Amino acid sequence: MSGFTGQHILSVNQFDREAVEKVFSVADTMRPYANRDKRTQVLDGAILGNLFFEASTRTRVSFGTAFNLLGGEVRETTGMSNSALAKGESLYDTARVLSGYSDIIAMRHPQAGSVSEFAQGSRVPVINGGDGANEHPTQALLDLYTIAKERAASGAGIDNLHIAMIGDLKYGRTVHSLAKMLTLFSNVQFTLISPKDLAMPDSVCDAIENAGHTLRISEQLEGIVEADICYQTRIQEERFSSQDEANKYRGKFRLNQQIYTQHFKSQTVIMHPLPRDSRAEANELDNDLNLHPNLAIFRQTDNGVLVRMALFALTLGVEDKVKDFDRPVHWYTNKRTI
Ligand code: CP
Repeated sequence: MSGFTGQHILSVNQFDREAVEKVFSVADTMRPYANRDKRTQVLDGAILGNLFFEASTRTRVSFGTAFNLLGGEVRETTGMSNSALAKGESLYDTARVLSGYSDIIAMRHPQAGSVSEFAQGSRVPVINGGDGANEHPTQALLDLYTIAKERAASGAGIDNLHIAMIGDLKYGRTVHSLAKMLTLFSNVQFTLISPKDLAMPDSVCDAIENAGHTLRISEQLEGIVEADICYQTRIQEERFSSQDEANKYRGKFRLNQQIYTQHFKSQTVIMHPLPRDSRAEANELDNDLNLHPNLAIFRQTDNGVLVRMALFALTLGVEDKVKDFDRPVHWYTNKRTI
C-alpha cells in the first residue's frame, strides 16, 4: 500500500507492515481527542455515509463517533429493509447515488464480497465494516493495535507472539482478518482451537504457513498454557442454516476464571471482538473475568475509536492537519484513559 489518500479499505490484503505501523502512529495522535482533552474541526463540512445492512453496535457507532470527533457529520442507514436494496436496487446503483451525498462511506453487509462490489460504484473511499464471513479489516487493525499496546507494557512487540484463537473460526470474519494481518510480522505462533466443523478456512491456514509461521490446530484447550493472547470468539449463529445447528456448538469453549487459571499463564491477555454471547447456554466469556487486569475487551473497543479516526484522517489526507484545527473542550468530561 503506497498511500492512503482516496483509497478504499476493503481487505487486510492491501496492507504491508509499514502501512499497519502508519495507521498505529496516526492512531496514537488521536488519543487527546478521544479522551476529550481537546477537539478538532479538521473534517468540518465533511460527511460520512455510515451504511450498516447487518446488525452492529461497536463498529457502526465507533465509525460515527470517530468521524464526529474529527469534526465531520454522519448520515446513517441501518438494516436492509430500510434501504432501496430491499426493492431490488443493485449495490452499484446504491453506491453511485450515496457517494454523491458523502465524502467517505463505511459499510457492513451480510454477503462476502459485497463491500468490494459496492466500492466499484462509489466515487468516494469505502471502508469495509464487515462483509459476511469474509473480512473485518478495521477490527483486525484495532485488535492488532491493542495487542501492540498490551505487549508494549512488558517491553515486547508483535513479533514472536503466540496467539490462541478459540471458537467459531470458520464463520468468524474477525479471526480471518486478524490472522492474515499477523502474518506480516515475524515468528508468530498460532494455536487454532475449534470444533472440527468450525475450523479456520484452508486459505487462512495456507497464508499463515506460506509466510513461515507456526500453526497448531486442536479441538481442545489443553496444551496452550504458553499463549500470550487468548482470542475468544462467538458462535456466529447468523451464518448457520438453523438455530439447532448453532446450538450444537454453543458453550463448547467457555472461558471463566477457573478455566483461564487452569489453561493459561498468568500474563495471558484475554481478547474478544465482541459481542460476547452472555446467555447461560453459551456464556463464552464469563462475567467473573470482568475485573481481571488481563481482560482487554473494553480496551479493544476504546482503541477502535482511535484506529477508525486514523483511517478517516489518512484516507481523507488530513493526518498532518488535525492539530491545526484544535479547539478547547467546554463541557464537563469524565476523564477517560484511552
Ligand atoms: N466487533 C464487532 O464487529 O462488533 P459489532 O458487531 O457490534 O459491530
